[in-house]
Amino acid sequence: MTTSMENIISLCKRRGFIYQGSEIYGGLAGTWDYGPLGVALKKNIENLWWKRFVLDRENIYGVDAAILMNQDVWKASGHVGGFSDPLTEDLKTKKRYRADHLLEENGVDPRGMTLEKMDAVIKEKGLKSPEGNPLGDVRQFNMMFKTHAGATQDDASITYLRPETAGGMFVNFKNIIDSFHPKLPFGMAQVGKAFRNEIAPRDFIFRVRELEQMEIEFFVKPDDWKPHFERFQKEQVEFLTQDLGLNPAHIHQVEIAAEDRAHYSKWSVDTEFDFPMGQKELLGLAYRTDFDLKSHTTASKVDLSYYDEETKERFTPHCVEPTFGLGRLMLAVLSDAYQEDEQNGEKRVYLKFDKKVAPVKAAVFPLLKNKPELVAKAREVYSALKKQIPQVMWDDNGNIGKRYRRQDEIGTPYCVTIDFDTLGETPAHADTVTIRDRDTGKQERVPISKLKDWILN
Ligand code: GAP
Repeated sequence: MTTSMENIISLCKRRGFIYQGSEIYGGLAGTWDYGPLGVALKKNIENLWWKRFVLDRENIYGVDAAILMNQDVWKASGHVGGFSDPLTEDLKTKKRYRADHLLEENGVDPRGMTLEKMDAVIKEKGLKSPEGNPLGDVRQFNMMFKTHAGATQDDASITYLRPETAGGMFVNFKNIIDSFHPKLPFGMAQVGKAFRNEIAPRDFIFRVRELEQMEIEFFVKPDDWKPHFERFQKEQVEFLTQDLGLNPAHIHQVEIAAEDRAHYSKWSVDTEFDFPMGQKELLGLAYRTDFDLKSHTTASKVDLSYYDEETKERFTPHCVEPTFGLGRLMLAVLSDAYQEDEQNGEKRVYLKFDKKVAPVKAAVFPLLKNKPELVAKAREVYSALKKQIPQVMWDDNGNIGKRYRRQDEIGTPYCVTIDFDTLGETPAHADTVTIRDRDTGKQERVPISKLKDWILN
């Protein structure tokens, strides 16, 4: 089921996944803080991504470049000149709005529209701001966060918080060639923060100002981009379904029209997802041609070409870029996992996470908290298991029913209970525990010696 955004936001706050950024000061729009379970879920997604796209391959090199970069990087990449969204201003309140969003909200599809066209449609239809006031001309708003490095605030000290992690990879292209001498095709991968001064952050962690991206710049021979593009297109879906357990029916791949592509892209396919607020972009895939390496070569005067030992030719490689927004992946995983049902006549909310992404793999508890012999045995089982599976949790708060509800709500696949049978009250059950399955509520007795394998497999 796809639930409402309100249900997801409320569960995330209640159970320590995600909090509003700077909450005690009234918040800061477009920023969110991750709590213990949010961090665990995010790291699981990131690790699955890193495993599939970096560790399990020989030809993708991991990097972690600085967020602050020389301003010339962003001039060469075209971001200083063209990384902008269409903006219109309420002429009375001076509040600013995304022109394309206003059009969409008024039933006009803004895809493929130029700035002039949006302006014309707003005027033609007499559209007003959400407060009912007249709107100014549509113009471009650059989304990069600008700052200064060092104590002097002049043009030379201008720097930007990177708007995409990609830039840090293109400028390290030569370093990777010189250190590792890779043969084409090869790629670079990076996970990290990016910053965009979104005019209208919205939909929880979907559109934020401080985001995390997981990106690959994959370099290929100039006429060889298509098969690599198609392979990544397929693998993006495999990552979503096989690694994260998303419902294939909620995933849609959409070719992007030329007018709507980023300035560097000659061909783009977005992977969209059925979020609670509708079908929206989850991932991107772009054929960036030789645009970036050539632009940086021209601007830096450092040669970023490649010498092919076999053909004895020198050329600038072309680039295919699969890009993944980590926050949007979290939102997709949370909204697909959210379930409501009834168990033992009681309504329950639970997160049906795939075991691989679940932030807690199993919770261990004594049947009763006030029986020292049960608590001691449960502690022993918990400590041994935690050494083998670190994402295991201890819980002895409230009665057993409450503990089950609590673990269900954070998506823990298994609850392990140590009871009197574990201590040998029924000799045949000595040194066994009960394991309860989150989805079915069914319980099974399992020997302590087999616990780890049972949970993992
Ligand atoms: N390097 C290419 C690039 O940055 P993009 O389509 O602008 O392409 C890539 O962004 C991905 O980053 C998107 O598919 C989305 O998952 C995520 N993303 C972009 N802007 C975002 C925002 N304001 N908030 C959250 N995620 C965002």
